[in-house]
Amino acid sequence: MKLADIKQIGVVGSGTMGFGIAINFAIAGYPTVMSDISDEILEQSMKNIKSALALFIEYEIITQKQADDAVTRITPTTDVNDVASNSDFITEAIFDRSKDKREMFNLLDESSPPHTIIASNTSSLVLSDFGSDVKRQDKIVLTHYFAPPHIVPGVEVGMGPGTSDETFDIVYDLMKKIKRVPIRLYTEESGYLINRLQNVVFKEAARLWAQGMASAEDIELGIISTFGFRMPHEGPFKHYDLAGIWKWPEDIRFPPPDPTNEVDKKIREHLKERKTWFVDPEKFDEAVEKRDREYIRRYKDLYLSKED
Ligand SMILES: NC(=O)c1ccc[n+]([C@@H]2O[C@H](COP(=O)([O-])OP(=O)(O)OC[C@H]3O[C@@H](n4cnc5c(N)ncnc54)[C@H](O)[C@@H]3O)[C@@H](O)[C@H]2O)c1
Repeated sequence: MKLADIKQIGVVGSGTMGFGIAINFAIAGYPTVMSDISDEILEQSMKNIKSALALFIEYEIITQKQADDAVTRITPTTDVNDVASNSDFITEAIFDRSKDKREMFNLLDESSPPHTIIASNTSSLVLSDFGSDVKRQDKIVLTHYFAPPHIVPGVEVGMGPGTSDETFDIVYDLMKKIKRVPIRLYTEESGYLINRLQNVVFKEAARLWAQGMASAEDIELGIISTFGFRMPHEGPFKHYDLAGIWKWPEDIRFPPPDPTNEVDKKIREHLKERKTWFVDPEKFDEAVEKRDREYIRRYKDLYLSKED
């Protein structure tokens, strides 16, 4: 199977995530069958789709004609077999309940053509659990979008225990084709990568708020105006490079080593050996200037009003 063999898309569940996932495929030109459990829910989802597309038109991302074409490509249905029988690629986006996902994956496995790839948008469950009865282990995969999925570009693409490289590569390329930014995950774990990172910040913020260190308003403000401000430009590794932390003396850079902690050891060895992650130390000043220019543009846009 190749990317070009994917011609018809299915989306199961048209809630917060499902309708936006359907939009991505429909704008990219794919006929998309979208199922849910009632006509009322589907009517609301079609309204949500039209409102979302109207905003895209307003911001000149698509034309009225492209929006109209996208809507005609989406077929709502209450019969999940309409999705299963014809789709080459299906995204499951129903409630995050293991039992429901297991039933749905088994149904899709039994009713879809043998070549069909079945993806889940789960945030916290793992394919090795709810997908364990599926016969086509090589053709199940994770595509984890972030709300709203038709706007936020990143999608985690992850493997279950039996996912083939072929499936993974097709899905990775499919995400690019629908103008998403695929993020490769090599192992599976509840919460996957991005939510685990995000949750560290949330949990610590909630703890410090509960301890009374700062108000919820100031914690929000602090994040948005500091590391949140930087984040469109850099993640933690590039930040480490650009902040020049790699140049600090080793005893300041690292806390005392814990020889029993293997993960800790691996991180230290890597940092010692590589020094920087992305920035060439020879071109450090250049990279800092580039960063500063981008920061200034954003600072001007967000914080210096015309009256100032
Ligand atoms: N909401 C988020 O921010 C977010 C982000 C990333 C991933 N996810 C994941 O996406 C999935 C869906 O989440 P959501 O927020 O869209 O939930 P939601 O409750 O808004 O939508 C789920 C939809 O699935 C439908 N549904 C339930 N059983 C069904 C069935 N058997 N057949 C067809 N439709 C069925 C429901 O009627 C509902 O409309 C979950 O796995 C969740 O973990 C959610």
